Order: sequence, then structure tokens, then C-alpha cells
Amino acid sequence: MTASIEQYKIHQEPFYQAQGNEVQLYQAAYAARLPVMIKGPTGCGKSRFVEYMAWKLGRPLITVACNEDMTASDLVGRYLLDANGTRWLDGPLTVAARIGAICYLDEIVEARQDTTVVIHPLTDHRRTLPLDKKGELLGAHPDFQLVISYNPGYQSLMKDLKQSTKQRFTAFDFDYPEAGLEAGIVASETGLEQATTAKLVKIAAAARNLKGHGLDEGISTRLLVYAATLIKGGVAPVDACRMALVRPITDDADIRVTLDHAIDAVFA
Ligand SMILES: Nc1ncnc2c1ncn2[C@@H]1O[C@H](COP(=O)(O)OP(=O)(O)OP(=O)(O)O)[C@@H](O)[C@H]1O
Ligand SMILES: [Mg+2]
Repeated sequence: MTASIEQYKIHQEPFYQAQGNEVQLYQAAYAARLPVMIKGPTGCGKSRFVEYMAWKLGRPLITVACNEDMTASDLVGRYLLDANGTRWLDGPLTVAARIGAICYLDEIVEARQDTTVVIHPLTDHRRTLPLDKKGELLGAHPDFQLVISYNPGYQSLMKDLKQSTKQRFTAFDFDYPEAGLEAGIVASETGLEQATTAKLVKIAAAARNLKGHGLDEGISTRLLVYAATLIKGGVAPVDACRMALVRPITDDADIRVTLDHAIDAVFA
């Protein structure tokens, strides 16, 4: 068991630039072991925040990327057949509840509702996880906490979380950081000077204004980090921006032209 805790611990402080008082609020939620939900667009810092908080709180972190094929057994565990017969293998949620980890279910809405409900008894006063197939009712470790994230932009109504799930969580609304902070984040992540990362942020602002007008999502902080990495590696800024900021997000010829112009203007 001790080995598992070590395996999931974050030993190096992850770089995280706070946008407000989210660190203090998360600490308060963790102190009460309240479940936390983080909403926000792709690449805005949700996962980084959770890694940072796990490090700060000294807790192991177990992350699960959810998808629509995921079953309750993928989270909870299953019997495996091997040469020695059958043996039970805990799923990641069960491991987290046993060792007192923070369990981070990424993109939870992707999971089917019959999968989502297995977290219900863990996220109310019961703090238990029934392992039905094994006939065990696992009481969660006192340090266990559940965190989920999702991108509210993507879901159809069909895929939204049920109120009975939502209302088991406290929640944060994340968004791309304010321009000065974001330029600082991209500079810290890549070592590129802030005068240039500020230009990347300007291009992102142009794209984010097109969200809902031909673009599903604006340019994420993650893509700005990619562009800065390329520039830092010697790629011409205009080429780096086309490759990292424009080509990935749209195939629409008009929008590409608009964004390419924005890049030319910023780096002229
Ligand atoms: N506040 C921040 N502090 C430090 N780095 C950040 C911050 N916000 C974004 N980043 C940078 O952006 C990248 C993407 O962030 P992250 O992986 O946390 O996004 P996400 O919100 O989890 O996206 P997704 O929904 O696609 O999983 C990080 O790897 C990091 O380089
Ligand atoms: Mg993430």
C-alpha cells in the first residue's frame, strides 16, 4: 500500500499561476473533503491546477480520462482471470478511495450516466464505494477527495450531468487567464521573453472573439505554449503561429485567412 501512495505522489512543485483565490478556496474545500468540479474550456489550466493542489496538499493524485466506452468496472475494478485463477483488481477510483488519494475524473460528461452514478455514494455523507461484484463495501480513506472536470462548451443536453450528480459538488469556473497573466504563464513555461508571449496572447484574443462565430473554441493557453516552444526552438514566429495556433483549431478557409492576417499584423 505504501508503495502505491508513493507512486501517485507529485514530488516536484508544478508551476501554477493562480488567477484569483482558487488555491485558498480549494484548500477550504479539501479541508472539509468536499467534492470539487472544475469547468472550463480546453487547455485553460484545469489539470495543472489539480496537479498543483495535490502537490500542495501532499496527497497522491490518480487521474482518469473518462470516455463514453468507460464502464463502472473500469472505475471500480473487476475480476481478472490468470494462470492462478481469478483475482480481483481494484480500479483507479477504488485505489484512490483506499489510499486516500485525490481522484481526478477528467471530462466526466463523456462517461455514460450509469457509470457516473458509481461516484454518488462517495460524494455524500456516506463516503463509501460499494464493490458489488466483490461483495465489499469500501469506506473511503479520510484523506480521499473526488475532483471532476468538464468543458461546458461541448455538451449536448443529452450529455450534461444530471442535477443529482452536479449537486454533489462545489464548483470552479475556469477560463483563459487575463492577458498579462497569460503572457507570464507562457513565458514561464517556455523561457520565451514576455514581449513575444504577449504578442501570442493578442492573437489568441482575436481567435477567442470568433468563438460562436465560426469557431467552436478559441486558441487555448496550451496552444500558446506550443507556439512559444516552437519560436524558442528557432522557428519563425509567423510559421510557428500558423502551425500551432491556427491549423489545429479550424479547417474553415475564411477563418484561417482572418487569423493569418491577425498573425501578420501582430508580427509585422
Ligand atoms: N494557470 C496556469 N499556470 C500554469 N500553467 C498553465 C496555467 N494555465 C494553463 N497553463 C498551461 O497550459 C497548459 C494546458 O493546461 P491544462 O492541461 O491544465 O489544461 P486543461 O484545462 O486541463 O485542458 P483540457 O480540458 O484539454 O484537459 C499547461 O500544460 C500549462 O502549460
Ligand atoms: Mg486536462
